[in-house]
Amino acid sequence: MVDLRGQYLRIKDEVDAAIERVLDSTAFIRGPELDAFEAELSAALGGVGALGVANGTDALQIAFMALGIGPGDEVIAPSFTFVATAEAAGLLGATPVFADIDPDTFTLDPDRVAELVTDRTKAIVPVHLFGQCADLDPLLELACARNIAVVEDTAQAIGATYKGRAAGTLAGFGTLSFFPSKNLGCYGDGGAILSPIPEWLEQARLISNHGSKKKYHNEVVGVNSRLDALQAAILRAKLPHLDAFTAARQLAADRYDERLADIEAIEVPKRASWGSHVFHQYTIRVRGNDAAQRDALMEHLQAEGIPSYVYYPVPLHLLPIYRDHADACRSGDMTHTLRAANEVLSLPMHTELTESEQDQVAEAIRAFFRGQA
Ligand SMILES: Cc1ncc(COP(=O)(O)O)c(C=O)c1O
Repeated sequence: MVDLRGQYLRIKDEVDAAIERVLDSTAFIRGPELDAFEAELSAALGGVGALGVANGTDALQIAFMALGIGPGDEVIAPSFTFVATAEAAGLLGATPVFADIDPDTFTLDPDRVAELVTDRTKAIVPVHLFGQCADLDPLLELACARNIAVVEDTAQAIGATYKGRAAGTLAGFGTLSFFPSKNLGCYGDGGAILSPIPEWLEQARLISNHGSKKKYHNEVVGVNSRLDALQAAILRAKLPHLDAFTAARQLAADRYDERLADIEAIEVPKRASWGSHVFHQYTIRVRGNDAAQRDALMEHLQAEGIPSYVYYPVPLHLLPIYRDHADACRSGDMTHTLRAANEVLSLPMHTELTESEQDQVAEAIRAFFRGQA
């Protein structure tokens, strides 16, 4: 699905020099590399405050902790996403409330969110899935009117825009993941918290460092979640390439669109009118609301030596952790979520994808449906 080695070889000298710099300095925790990365990430995203943490899941948990979210509170999130968003709320004793998605973008539908808001709602978490933003304006308006925080889960969408502004920078908090396969990936686990509100970012910083500014003078209950200096240095080497990485993904997406346009049985990704898509995933739908048909295509591709993957086969509200524990979550109508789980298939997508590899993918998909006709 990704070619991490090919990308590394292209920027090897810069990455190796960054790693060597850290080894020479022996400053492995916090220190100048992390300070510099936070400043450079902030500059790349229009000046929003940035804090490096250990991974994208911690970023969500720390943001929720900084908002004071705990038992009795509710956090509205999509069910059609990776589990981290709900997991972080649950770990703090809050209840995840699952809202349905907009079928065009696979992101939270603001109308469905509005139906689920109660006096217990403390946060709304739009997940910018597959590389494009949820429709933020109606969510921000709703949240503002009800004094609810918005946390943009931007793990899959660094570099995307919403009405010209950087994803992850429009709400009180944004969170990033630098998991190796992400659009800006490090070589281990990594994440970041973004906030335009300095006091909120400082509270998150305090929590991420055992709740202390001054060693052994802990002020609040915190966690140990810092982006280590080796990862920060690697990310500093990669950040200047992010625009080129994004352009390569967008070009590959255009080529898939072209090559797949005439295959009636599938639907290529739709691009929202409100922003740019950075194609963390290129996710098609196999029409028909039939997971068996989608899985058969996946098996056919596998037999041809082509990887593909279902993100995500089980909506969160149907996972055993929620399905078998009625009071562990609350959900609205899930029509579009259930359909998406049956239809989606993500194709290989990365910065090193070649035209001939994409020709091969398109031809294999065409052959599968020809065989069925
Ligand atoms: C939407 C979303 N949120 C959160 C995360 C969690 O990030 P991490 O794996 O860095 O903890 C991921 C990572 O896969 C993700 O895709």
